[in-house]
Amino acid sequence: MSDHESLITAAKQVRENAHAPYSNFRVGAAVRAGSGRIFGGCNIENATFGLTVCAERIAIFKALSEGERNFDAIAVVTDGERLTPPCGACRQIIWEFCGDIPVILANLGGQSETTPMRELFPKPFDSSNL
Ligand code: THU
Repeated sequence: MSDHESLITAAKQVRENAHAPYSNFRVGAAVRAGSGRIFGGCNIENATFGLTVCAERIAIFKALSEGERNFDAIAVVTDGERLTPPCGACRQIIWEFCGDIPVILANLGGQSETTPMRELFPKPFDSSNL
């Protein structure tokens, strides 16, 4: 299995655990750390709506909290024809901790596309601005 395919497979698996009773929009994400370990995350919604956390941030925070710091790529998987790019908040977090990594978007129908983070987030605010 290619590096990208193994990330997509991991994101599909963890998507099964999504808690999305309000939107019914289930998202899975998986990030590969420099150690080679893959960390998955799914969206977890809340009745307050505003406390919902996206799949991407859960995957990255899981990895960070396990001591990982360098990341090679991230995959995001949803169902439906339109591929789902990370939301604005997740782009800020991906940039902070992963930098210009490939962002692999995929769906359950087998479609996928890969975009460099710098294209999704062309003028970031980051530590270089401080
Ligand atoms: N969501 C994600 O988990 N990741 C994204 O990239 C886009 C949005 C979730 C948040 C919420 O649970 C649902 O999708 C609808 O916005």
